[in-house]
Amino acid sequence: MDTHAPPALGTLHGVGVGPGAPDLMTLRAVNVLRAAAVVAIPRRNAYSQSVAWRIAEPSVGPVEGQERLFLHFPMTKDVSILRPAWDEAFGKIGERLVRGLDVAFITEGDPFVYSTFIYLLREAPTRWPGVKINIVPAVSSITAVPAATGVPLADGLERIAILPATYGVDDLTEVLTKFDTTILMKVSSVMPKVVEALEKTGLLHCATYVSKASTADERIVRDVQSIKNDHCDYFSMVVVSKKSRSGILVESASHAVDALAAGVSPEALNAAVVR
Ligand SMILES: C[S@@+](CC[C@H](N)C(=O)[O-])C[C@H]1O[C@@H](n2cnc3c(N)ncnc32)[C@H](O)[C@@H]1O
Repeated sequence: MDTHAPPALGTLHGVGVGPGAPDLMTLRAVNVLRAAAVVAIPRRNAYSQSVAWRIAEPSVGPVEGQERLFLHFPMTKDVSILRPAWDEAFGKIGERLVRGLDVAFITEGDPFVYSTFIYLLREAPTRWPGVKINIVPAVSSITAVPAATGVPLADGLERIAILPATYGVDDLTEVLTKFDTTILMKVSSVMPKVVEALEKTGLLHCATYVSKASTADERIVRDVQSIKNDHCDYFSMVVVSKKSRSGILVESASHAVDALAAGVSPEALNAAVVR
């Protein structure tokens, strides 16, 4: 036996810890986080708290011998700042993986919805060929927010659009017109433009602003015009629910598909079914 062979690579886990309420974490997330040798915890800088760790810590608790590895991921779109920070953080994760240690990287919400883990996932096979990856899905803000407002995300024929608003809302009017439900994530810096698009499309009454959904600090604002110029929370979202063609009964679904294929408009079809 070759006693000098390097240890097998550890597994890299991407673990979603949910939208904020600790009891919305999954059992799997808790189990994986308790079993990992290293928990990788992203935060904005050395002085800020990690939102994801604040959610997870009460359920994970102390684990003997486990390393809690705090990593810095600056909040900026400037690649010249991001790239070196990511390289340093990913390098620290790699040092542990090559020593055979399992690393669990935590993310707020779900790891596959606008999360830093996605960049790590993309680079992992090149950085550490053969590394095993395990994803632990979670309750996303995309489902936590409708639960807070009491307005279903979609049913029947309804279509959903999801936009990272901070990267541009120039086509918002068009999106609002085409989709039944529009979710605007990362909305805080573009609220004035969002409200303008809602005014233009006559959909102000369909919009709701929610910040910190599922937490004790949750805030729901149904009159979004009233907060147009406010400094909104980073963990906030605007959901626009038109609900003009919900109500297709499950039993009618196959008839609906046939009718749509035959050219019947969704509006005509919806008007024809019993609500
Ligand atoms: C970087 S993305 C992370 C999304 C996360 N991975 C998820 O699945 O919800 C951050 C954005 O998600 C939304 N968000 C996350 N948690 C939220 C919450 N508890 N309430 C409202 N919006 C939230 C906000 O739009 C925020 O700007």
